[in-house]
Amino acid sequence: MVKNPYKPYPVKIDEIIVETDDRNLRTFHFKFLNPEDEAAFQYLPGQFAEISVPGQGEIPIGIASSPTEKGYLKFTVNKAGKVTTYLHNMKPGDIIGVRGPLGNWYPWDKLEGSNVVIIGGGFAFTTLRSSIVYMLDPANRPKFGNITVIYGARNPGLLLYKEELFDWERRDDIVMHITVDATNDPNWKYNVGFVPAITKEKAPSSENAYAIVCGPPIMIKFTLPVLRELGFAPDRIITSLEMRMKCGIGMCGRCNIGTEYVCKDGPVFTFEQLSHLPNEY
Ligand SMILES: Cc1cc2nc3c(=O)[nH]c(=O)nc-3n(C[C@H](O)[C@H](O)[C@H](O)COP(=O)(O)OP(=O)(O)OC[C@H]3O[C@@H](n4cnc5c(N)ncnc54)[C@H](O)[C@@H]3O)c2cc1C
Ligand code: FES
Repeated sequence: MVKNPYKPYPVKIDEIIVETDDRNLRTFHFKFLNPEDEAAFQYLPGQFAEISVPGQGEIPIGIASSPTEKGYLKFTVNKAGKVTTYLHNMKPGDIIGVRGPLGNWYPWDKLEGSNVVIIGGGFAFTTLRSSIVYMLDPANRPKFGNITVIYGARNPGLLLYKEELFDWERRDDIVMHITVDATNDPNWKYNVGFVPAITKEKAPSSENAYAIVCGPPIMIKFTLPVLRELGFAPDRIITSLEMRMKCGIGMCGRCNIGTEYVCKDGPVFTFEQLSHLPNEY
């Protein structure tokens, strides 16, 4: 029987991790109630899902786990409005729904065999985390060249996935440049500076490389010219868009930019693709 694309899979909240000092970002681990649903939920880093909170509504959220992590899905959610606030107040053991996986993914066929530069700011790091975990998996690591990560937040308390960041920092098969806009912490041993400035300072090579850039619009605006100066062509700079969505499957027309539906043709686009679309994102 063909699956109804509007029907979510039932999942149980298994774990909730408070990520940031302001407590506005929480990571949720969801376990599928039915093993056959988990087997059907095949995704790649860059995709999102609709999280369905009974009686409240559905929200699109990027998948923060990697398909190499089995047994659960991970989403990091900012407390923004009605549904996210309700979700933040839920407890382990509560049942909700997940519909997906939805949208396209980072172009893994092209990224294989290339150097990959990941640039993230603030809480848009979720699908970038998925990508890093995916590339660092022992079965996948040989498929990629150098992996360089530049990730910044306003202050150390707002960085996501801190333990993992500091673990990656100690590895020799990934180059990490963690940064904060400012800090009073005398023990802070990483960078201080905005993401575009740190990108310029560290100057990752564009040789056989792709850059994936996700973050607040202001960060992207100032990082793009730095990447162009470093020699990254627009078709080698990739981003992910967050438009308002409803159906998530290209049916309702809520999320379109020109001819493209962000939920179906995106959310991942290159800047070369975006240059042909109206500037409505
Ligand atoms: C592809 C994609 C990936 C995303 N990934 C994440 C993520 O990993 N973590 C995270 O915290 N947020 C993410 N967002 C943003 C998240 O969807 C919104 O913050 C959330 O929908 C707000 O819901 P709300 O009910 O709490 O807020 P309200 O402001 O009360 O929103 C009411 C309704 O409007 C819609 N809506 C509001 N803001 C957005 C928005 N920015 N994007 C899409 N629909 C919206 C939703 O249908 C929502 O239920 C993502 C959005 C998209 C499109
Ligand atoms: S959200 Fe319905 S078409 Fe994209």
